[in-house]
Amino acid sequence: MSSPEATAVDPSRLAMPVGEAMFTQRSIRRFRREPIPMEDIRLILEAAAKAPSGGNRQPARFLVLTDPAVIERFGALYREAWWAKRRDEGRPWTRREDIPQEERNSRAAALLAEQIAHAPCVMLALSLPRGGASSVVPAVQNLMVAARALGIGSVPTTLHLSVMERVYSLLGIPAEIEFHLCIPLGYPRGRFGPTQRLPTADTSYMNQWGGPVPWR
Ligand SMILES: Cc1cc2nc3c(=O)[nH]c(=O)nc-3n(C[C@H](O)[C@H](O)[C@H](O)COP(=O)(O)O)c2cc1C
Repeated sequence: MSSPEATAVDPSRLAMPVGEAMFTQRSIRRFRREPIPMEDIRLILEAAAKAPSGGNRQPARFLVLTDPAVIERFGALYREAWWAKRRDEGRPWTRREDIPQEERNSRAAALLAEQIAHAPCVMLALSLPRGGASSVVPAVQNLMVAARALGIGSVPTTLHLSVMERVYSLLGIPAEIEFHLCIPLGYPRGRFGPTQRLPTADTSYMNQWGGPVPWR
């Protein structure tokens, strides 16, 4: 077990107003190369650990990749997985240049598939035992908001079954651990900023399904 000293961190370093962090936290997929200081990686993980979990069982586990050689090898598998998902979706593209201009999200995601191999940090969100996705996701959101507060960009991503065995083997992940999300992190090339979301008046109801919220 870790000593109490080993768990002391300074959450006041996450002083950005929570509203600013949440309202400007957009997907960052292009990163500067400079490494994230280890104390910031630690603070991000400590913030993730503060998230709620079912029965406080805390199944979330994080595997942090910072070794450029490991990230490069992982990045090749990530890239393969991204294109495998497009094949599953029946997309006809085989290269980024094939993706139509108007498919902005896919073009950005394809760029990440190229560039993740050079990200300064990649965190894999896992669980022990397998399952427990609903208890891993809050931790990942905490992680990304804490990163935002430190000026570090991120984006949640998934992998594909076709690469999973090789990812587990590359990183020495035991079979009893389940993979949930892959989160590349780094200082942004580009800016944080506002996001486009559906109006809450259209996605929220009051007292019964379909009951309008007062600001509708
Ligand atoms: C479960 C999940 C899976 C995602 N998978 C990917 C992915 O594989 N690649 C990617 O670039 N972005 C991925 N994203 C990020 C979404 O594309 C992004 O959150 C969404 O487009 C909104 O973008 P914004 O936050 O910049 O507004 C994923 C997000 C979630 C929640």
